Amino acid sequence: MPDTTTKKSPATVPESLQAQKDLQLFYLFSTTLLSTMQLNKLLHLILSTLVCEENSLFCRAMLFLYNQKTNTLQGMLGICRKSTDGLQLVGADPANPLSGYWDLDEDAMASQRQSDFCTKVRETRIDLAEGCQIVSHVVDERRLYRIEDVECLKCQECDFISRFGVSSFAAVPLVTRNNLVGIIIVDNPFKHQPITDQQLQVLQLFANQAGMAIENTRLYRDLEEAHAELRDARQRLIHGAHLAAIGEMAASISHELKTPLITIGGFAARLGRMLPENTSQRHCLDTIISESHRLERLLGDILTFSRKPTICYQECDLAEIIRTCLADYAHALEERNIMLKAVIPSGTCVIQGDSSQLKQVCINLIVNAQEAITQDGTLRVVLTTKEERGKICAVASFADSGGGIPEDVLSKIFTPFFTTKRHGTGLGLAIVNRIIQNHDGILRVHNVGDGAEFQVVLPLAVCG
Ligand SMILES: Nc1ncnc2c1ncn2[C@@H]1O[C@H](COP(=O)(O)OP(=O)(O)OP(=O)(O)O)[C@@H](O)[C@H]1O
Ligand SMILES: [Mg+2]
Repeated sequence: MPDTTTKKSPATVPESLQAQKDLQLFYLFSTTLLSTMQLNKLLHLILSTLVCEENSLFCRAMLFLYNQKTNTLQGMLGICRKSTDGLQLVGADPANPLSGYWDLDEDAMASQRQSDFCTKVRETRIDLAEGCQIVSHVVDERRLYRIEDVECLKCQECDFISRFGVSSFAAVPLVTRNNLVGIIIVDNPFKHQPITDQQLQVLQLFANQAGMAIENTRLYRDLEEAHAELRDARQRLIHGAHLAAIGEMAASISHELKTPLITIGGFAARLGRMLPENTSQRHCLDTIISESHRLERLLGDILTFSRKPTICYQECDLAEIIRTCLADYAHALEERNIMLKAVIPSGTCVIQGDSSQLKQVCINLIVNAQEAITQDGTLRVVLTTKEERGKICAVASFADSGGGIPEDVLSKIFTPFFTTKRHGTGLGLAIVNRIIQNHDGILRVHNVGDGAEFQVVLPLAVCG
């Protein structure tokens, strides 16, 4: 077992003076750890203070983070004495030896990360089941180890030892609230000086403090994330309230416009019947009629979308709803030479829902398919059942040969008022999506073959 017992180190400095120096160093280290809440900077500071010339503790320090799942240590940072030039003592008062703290700027940290030594450490992964035994002891027992001479411990074969040319070293665990975060390994390869007891004590104290500081930065980060989430949620609430107000306004305007529009369309149709066909007057009236129908439809969609959804749940037969919709549109599809391939089971497919809203879903999907194909193509409608999220569901698929939906459009198609069509309102799929969600269903879309496929998944009540 490696040696961790305390031995008397050569007394070069009087003990009281050494104790005062250690206290000063430790105080400086504590203030340094409190100076930042950025985890990355903290790690740089911890290792830099362990190896900097002024503190004359160690020549190299490496940090490995522990991954419990894979039982490995992953190299994160390695700093040797020559890459601590950027370490600055800030706010030190000559009259007060316990003042100031160490600091590093972004450039200094970047140059530390780019050093060959750090790259080597970051490329190192120690498998605790098979790798360095000494390091495994540190992890298992969660205590500091000092290894005087690795040759004696028959570690020559170990990849970690040969990789870093380590002869004697110390490894200390970083523990936060009983959880192992990682380990710090320090050594003096260039000076070939043994690690003294006094250095070990300082290392242990540093590691305890570092563990707490790492925990603090993590807690602070969690707090910041929670704060950011709350801020976003508040923004969304405000945005939602604005949208609700706009929706109410849109609904009342649509409502007010709809009645006179129906009157305009109705009178125009009556006038139209009085005029002979193929005259310019009749043509003008036909345009008024078709445009007022279009506006009526648009206002109807806006009303549907902005109203609070009221669902009249009852047992309804999805197979029957689809059959009726397909029958309603059979003529329109035929006119455009769109071949309808429908595979609907002959029995019933009963779900709990609002049949008029579900009809609206099917019609929107059929019309979209028809508009995508325009002329000559295929619309395939299939109704099946399958298990989804632990429930038996009806799956109605509407697949067309209309060329599919471009990638950049796909993410926006459910956004209200998004349309790529000249006369589209962009409310069709937003309404479909809302209806399906209110029915505890799922709406899926993907491009398949030479077109798009929309899948409506609804939990089944009974299927006969
Ligand atoms: N089957 C489909 N094939 C290709 N693109 C589609 C298909 N269905 C929808 N889209 C795309 O999604 C967009 C939004 O569709 P949505 O039904 O919401 O609005 P719209 O059809 O443009 O207008 P309307 O409100 O009159 O239905 C369409 O403009 C179109 O770009
Ligand atoms: Mg549409």
